Amino acid sequence: MGKERAGLKEIIDLSTEMNRTKDIDMLLDSILAKARAFTNADAGSIYVKEDGRLNFRCVQNETLQERLGPGRKLIHTFFTLPLSSSSIVGHVATTGRALNIPDAYALEPGCPYSFNAEFDRMSDYRTTSILSLPLESNDGIVGVLQLINAKNGEGETVPFPADVELYLRYFANIAATALERAQLTRSIILRMIKMAEMHDPKETGAHVNRVAGYAIEIYEAWAKVKDIDKADVEKTKDILRMASMLHDVGKIGISDIILKKPGRLDESEFKTIKEHTRLGASLFFDKQSDFDKVAFLVAANHHERWDGNGYPGHIDLLTGRVIDGQGGSEEGHPRGKKGLEIPILARIVSVSDVYDALCSRRCYKEPYEETRALDEIRAESGRAFDPEVVEAFFAAFPNFRNVALRYPDTE
Ligand SMILES: [Fe+2]
Ligand SMILES: [Fe+2]
Repeated sequence: MGKERAGLKEIIDLSTEMNRTKDIDMLLDSILAKARAFTNADAGSIYVKEDGRLNFRCVQNETLQERLGPGRKLIHTFFTLPLSSSSIVGHVATTGRALNIPDAYALEPGCPYSFNAEFDRMSDYRTTSILSLPLESNDGIVGVLQLINAKNGEGETVPFPADVELYLRYFANIAATALERAQLTRSIILRMIKMAEMHDPKETGAHVNRVAGYAIEIYEAWAKVKDIDKADVEKTKDILRMASMLHDVGKIGISDIILKKPGRLDESEFKTIKEHTRLGASLFFDKQSDFDKVAFLVAANHHERWDGNGYPGHIDLLTGRVIDGQGGSEEGHPRGKKGLEIPILARIVSVSDVYDALCSRRCYKEPYEETRALDEIRAESGRAFDPEVVEAFFAAFPNFRNVALRYPDTE
């Protein structure tokens, strides 16, 4: 096969893979990783066009990653740029034309855009070559893909070759369409959550985004210990993110008078609230896809406890009736699921949800200090939570800051 054919085949394979990814954050990561691998770029980032601005959404940097060591993720702030042609990314987004810059510090005088060296200064990095491309779907520009410091075979930084640029443009168009689809999925999920939030103001978009972010970090750490196949891990992370965002979506079906009631709930009110697990699961009963299956399990089981004292327990999720033969069902009280009876992804979301609730302000409590919240999680190991999941939680904890920075509460 000629060089061109091989390049084209590689791009098509990458694109097919991309179209399988549904979650937007997973997709951004995978677009960037693939584009970097294809161009042998040391670093890169993606900006997504949202509300007339360019939001910095994803970054990878091999050199900085190596300094940090394995398993740790780069901490970065998420900033936004105006959609103007004075920056490199802004220029690409407004003109729709790619920029292939051999040296960021040697731009021609009078050049309409300028390079912002702030990131280099902050992180002690040296940007040289840049390839910046528009992510353009049929509906227009959805973002910008920026690749930094192409490496040659000897590991030296070189300009991006022109033929690479050509292939990458094709890749960028397919990536843009996948991105648009993932944005739509995410916005539908967030709308479902907004509906639940009308009933329970605690269940905000920021909360569910953080719960999802922590959950996949915990899952990744857990899967590493269990030596789970890498492709399976990626697939599960893709589904788990969206499914865990929907853990409390069943609150749509619960009276907001009870959900918003300050102070203690009586027994019958609490019983009503418990129904949100079953109602949430009922939205995914059809189980058409792998996503539906996971969303079903997470919604149904995220309040089960490792020691068996959680809810809803062994009930028929369709009718709510206690399943006979599961014991402990005095006065129609179902026996709680216990230990490994609880699906692993629900065990993970349960820790993640509780941790974020502890760290958040509630009408009845101030947010916990981080150390106090961590003590609480540790204390519940083997009681509310699976001890192995708690271990994974602590292994993943250094990566939580990124998630919290990305999804702050908006007052
Ligand atoms: Fe819940
Ligand atoms: Fe929650």
